Amino acid sequence: MLDNGNVLLTDVTGRDGFQMEDWVETEDKISIINEIIAAGVRRIEATSFVSPRAVPQLKDAKKVIEHLHRENVSIIALIPNVKGAEFALESNVDEVNVVVSVSETHNKKNVNKTVDESITGIADIYQLMESNGKKVNVGLATTFGCPFEGLYEVGRVHEVIKKLTAKGLDRFMLADTTGMANPLQVSRFVKRLKDDFPDVDLSLHLHNTRGMGLANVLAGYDAGIRSFDASLGGIGGCPFAPGATGNVALEDVAHMFDQMNIPIDPDLNKLLAAARKLEKVLGYKLPGQVMKAGLSTDLHQA
Ligand code: COA
Ligand code: ZN
Repeated sequence: MLDNGNVLLTDVTGRDGFQMEDWVETEDKISIINEIIAAGVRRIEATSFVSPRAVPQLKDAKKVIEHLHRENVSIIALIPNVKGAEFALESNVDEVNVVVSVSETHNKKNVNKTVDESITGIADIYQLMESNGKKVNVGLATTFGCPFEGLYEVGRVHEVIKKLTAKGLDRFMLADTTGMANPLQVSRFVKRLKDDFPDVDLSLHLHNTRGMGLANVLAGYDAGIRSFDASLGGIGGCPFAPGATGNVALEDVAHMFDQMNIPIDPDLNKLLAAARKLEKVLGYKLPGQVMKAGLSTDLHQA
């Protein structure tokens, strides 16, 4: 259903976005996510089944998923452990995202485990989800650098992917958790990892923390990536990484590809309407740019 040749945009507003906000009412979450689905986005990371003590903002995960309009869309939940996987199965999500950091320090802060412990845990989750016919995607947090440990070479990312592919995992999101990546680095990392692992499915999860988000999306596209995460209005961030700010804005990424005549699924005007509605719900100016300026094809009275 998902591979129609278009660039695949996955909306992460419900998870990466709302985990970084003060409490957002469940009804507002549902209505925003349903509007994103109605705009034609075909993959949605809607929420997390994590410890409500770690991320209280998403403690309504079950209710949110219950009320989504699930037509022509794949619904994803982020989970940290088998307990989360069981909740995700009860809610009948289509896919789960699990997460492990390339950085030991960030992994400890995020999920209180060493990287190797996380890999073992992910293998258990994979067994359970696989036997229930669900896809498991691995988010590789801090792929392009860690706010605690700094930058590292692509070989370190290679090692983590290698251990996970040995357990059967084959879908990876290279995540720039705190916006440390630059376009040449994205290009270099993606090319090397595509060469090293020709059979794995790679996507990019980029944050615009230092204004390089769209440039990094384009660098990824040029290096062969066709699947990108983004959030409405550019909200989001990891609560366990200092200085984290929003994802690349979904409507800005969609607009860029559309301007370059690269086909995408969602309707741009509907995305902009949803982003403006989200801004009203959250009550502050969102970082997204096209939602302020309008489409570049919108003309003004001379
Ligand atoms: N869903 C709901 N509750 C969960 C849970 C899950 N998936 N996993 C654990 N819990 C609960 C436990 O029942 C326990 O509750 P209790 O104290 O009331 O008995 C509590 O959370 C702590 O569980 P424990 O197994 O001791 O784990 P921990 O304290 O070492 O925390 C994680 C580990 C992974 C559960 C926690 O750090 C977490 O949920 N992290 C999420 C990180 C995240 O979402 N980051 C942003 C995305 S990158
Ligand atoms: Zn993120």
